[in-house]
Amino acid sequence: MTEQVSTLTVTDNRTGRTYEIPIENGAIRANTLRSIKLDESDFGLLTYDPAFTNTASCRSAITFIDGDAGILRYRGFPITELADKSSFLEVAYLLLAGELPTASELAVWESEITHHTLVHESIKKFIDGFYHDAHPMGILLSSVGALSTFYPDAKEISDPGLRRLQIVRLIAKITTLAAFSYRHSIGLPYVYPDNDLSYAGNFLNMMWKATELKYEPDPILEHALDVLFILHADHEQNCSTNAMRAVGSSQADPFSAAAAAISALYGPLHGGANEQVLRMLTEIGSVENIPAFIEQVKSGKKKLMGFGHRVYKNYDPRARVIRQIADEVFKVTGTNPLLDLALELERVALEDEYFIKRKLYPNVDFYTGIIYQAMGFPVEMFPVLFAVGRMPGWLAQWEEGLLDPEQKIARPRQLYVGHEERPYTPIEDRSPDFVGASDSIAALAAQAAPARPRR
Ligand code: CMC
Repeated sequence: MTEQVSTLTVTDNRTGRTYEIPIENGAIRANTLRSIKLDESDFGLLTYDPAFTNTASCRSAITFIDGDAGILRYRGFPITELADKSSFLEVAYLLLAGELPTASELAVWESEITHHTLVHESIKKFIDGFYHDAHPMGILLSSVGALSTFYPDAKEISDPGLRRLQIVRLIAKITTLAAFSYRHSIGLPYVYPDNDLSYAGNFLNMMWKATELKYEPDPILEHALDVLFILHADHEQNCSTNAMRAVGSSQADPFSAAAAAISALYGPLHGGANEQVLRMLTEIGSVENIPAFIEQVKSGKKKLMGFGHRVYKNYDPRARVIRQIADEVFKVTGTNPLLDLALELERVALEDEYFIKRKLYPNVDFYTGIIYQAMGFPVEMFPVLFAVGRMPGWLAQWEEGLLDPEQKIARPRQLYVGHEERPYTPIEDRSPDFVGASDSIAALAAQAAPARPRR
């Protein structure tokens, strides 16, 4: 990318002074605004950007998105080409190393990942401690964080060899932990990894193996899952990647940072959206109910889950690939009745002025849940599958952040809007209406719903 250096001229109307601010890569450095002051005692101008909607937090060479054109590339390669020609582990290598591997490099990489899939036996005891109906995403984020206690060398984040070892461990073990979290929830014994199988094939083995001596994954489902992992592998500075980088910036070990990233992904506006799409489609129930549902969305009572994106203002290119692999999967599993409902919902939404005006299109999560459900995954596992796919991207972004000489501990500023300094009132002088009853903790507690006993 050629760097264009030009400037921005700003006049501060409070003082009449004019400043010339350099523009690099279509951005100004927020810190240059600090020289814009009322006087010497003034802190200088800040930018205010509550959800980072217009703030670049890093320079990155990993993923390129053009949200208006619907383009997604990893290290310069279009996502559609990678989904068509690559494997998930090859894409993971690409994201981390910056280049596609040679055949021998790929063989070494695959062997390394395959030979790190086992977890310490004590992790099983840790997982056993969860309540039987614990959400697998909660189990996953806790057990990934717990791995840091098994690998104290993970703290050595400036050692490239040890960094690579933790990267291999995380990509390898997340499938095992993901499958264990599911097996725990249905009370089945854990299945150990099978080194003869591919990354996706082994994951299916650990999910579904029953009493057979050797589990043989269906090659079409194995391939579909591999492609779904590729589609989720990175997506530049999204909420969970931002969490990974922010925690990593404090030089915490990558297991702890990855636990934070999984926590961020858990939310229904991010990786939890695929689960919510399925719940939404089930609630809509049939095609006749779509118009009423759309009206509720337009009046702000509901959200059309799986639609809209902070960056894409066009069809998400991943959603197109997913539509294709859905057809492959349904040939094996039989169709999912929710597919017809989703197709009709998409058609109605894309013709509606509300969605057209706001440039709301299906995102990656709109169709993944339907495929996962057809493959037999329960809804609670959908965000877990997202986390498995996203792990290489988080790690590539984490390492890029650590190696970037411009990065420091992530520490935003705030605009303080609270009280000025005020005198402390001793407790005996505080009357019941001291802070205003509606604000008091007692009043909040009275409003809270009574705690429900556990089953
Ligand atoms: N249904 C109905 N209205 C929507 C939706 C939606 N799914 N998404 C955005 N809007 C409306 C929003 O109400 C706003 O309208 P108005 O201008 O009248 O206030 C306008 O569109 C702009 O939306 P926004 O909330 O300012 O956009 P954002 O960039 O802050 O939010 C988003 C992006 C993904 C959180 C949001 O589109 C959303 O909540 N979508 C549903 C959840 C979802 O599918 N999430 C998965 C995202 S893709 C995978 C991932 O990255 O995790």
